[in-house]
Amino acid sequence: MAQNGGTIYLSPPHMGQLEQQYVAEAFATNWIAPLGPHVDAFERELAERVGVKSAVALSSGTAAIHLALRLIGVGAGDTVFCSALTFVASAAPILYQGATPVFIDSEPATWNMSPQALERALEEAARSGRLPKAVVVVNLYGQSADMDPIMDLCARYGVPIVEDAAESLGATYKGKASGTFGVYGIYSFNGNKIITTSGGGMLVTNDTKAAEKARFWATQARDPAPHYEHSEYGYNYRMSNVLAAIGRGQLSVLDDRVRARRRVFERYAAHFAGRPGIAFMPEAPFGSATRWLTALTIDPDVCGVDALQCVRELAQHRIEARPVWKPMQLQPLFRGYAYYPHSEGESVSEKLFASGLCLPSGSNLSEEEQDRVIEVLERCLNKVVIS
Ligand SMILES: Cc1ncc(COP(=O)(O)O)c(C=O)c1O
Repeated sequence: MAQNGGTIYLSPPHMGQLEQQYVAEAFATNWIAPLGPHVDAFERELAERVGVKSAVALSSGTAAIHLALRLIGVGAGDTVFCSALTFVASAAPILYQGATPVFIDSEPATWNMSPQALERALEEAARSGRLPKAVVVVNLYGQSADMDPIMDLCARYGVPIVEDAAESLGATYKGKASGTFGVYGIYSFNGNKIITTSGGGMLVTNDTKAAEKARFWATQARDPAPHYEHSEYGYNYRMSNVLAAIGRGQLSVLDDRVRARRRVFERYAAHFAGRPGIAFMPEAPFGSATRWLTALTIDPDVCGVDALQCVRELAQHRIEARPVWKPMQLQPLFRGYAYYPHSEGESVSEKLFASGLCLPSGSNLSEEEQDRVIEVLERCLNKVVIS
């Protein structure tokens, strides 16, 4: 949906019918904060939806990753493997825990964690007697990673998985909900996600005791006592009742939102697929992606224009597009940490960063707005090819 005078955003919020009703309920009962019945209901409904025993509503997806790592016992001196091609929030909590990240490249078929790179990294770690304490696997742009080989490898070495499904709520892998394969999974309800609470996240697990511990840490680790008693440190990480009210309304339209995003992708693909130099992020046959963002690569040698030039050109027409995530091993923050490419001499994440483009993909993007995006991108590609 165009906002603020015609700007087309990458992935704006899209409210449904029920959110205001639930929020009004929270106001009418003065159950604004800290927790409340909407939080409990949102946790229950999300857990049911994805098929897990427990869900913990939190202030962000980042908080959920942080709690998952602490539940696993990640601490100073540990290493944690993490997908390289992702948003910084997948990896930053490794630093919060004083641990050392090691980055694992993508594979071309899914753009997600490369099982062959993971295998090399685990073999080396086992040889040196420094197995990682956890592996953070990211499901990029709404598509699950190829979990079977990743889980087999992690099981072989006894390493737990944290599944960062911030971008993949509503996607499936072999018929099962994305985000439910790791010991812990996390979702994000940040403003740009497929459903949003304006800001928030969820930790999911089948370990109900661990979920209770996460709730305890997320509410400042208050020991049961009439006064304030603390024997551990915690965080202020819980979701408020008002935001959970929004989340419940949003969850009720999740399937519509997934369908709409897939439709947006299909219209882009119908227009540009097959064009020399353009390739869309593939959808692996093992599951159904949400196409949270439509992502494609542009080969500048063929198209005469690169992804960044397209981002700039689209911005001039008030259309927000973005390059693909800059891989973690290229971030100044993570300089010097180990990185395992897909194969020797082939860094898939770096190639995707150099050529990747994410197009406006909101579930409320109108066909007219999408036509505007297509037209500007089309002109951008043609202009430079001709000149
Ligand atoms: C892959 C990934 N992981 C983690 C996060 C963090 O989620 P949040 O913004 O809710 O903290 C995001 C998005 O923001 C993300 O895209």
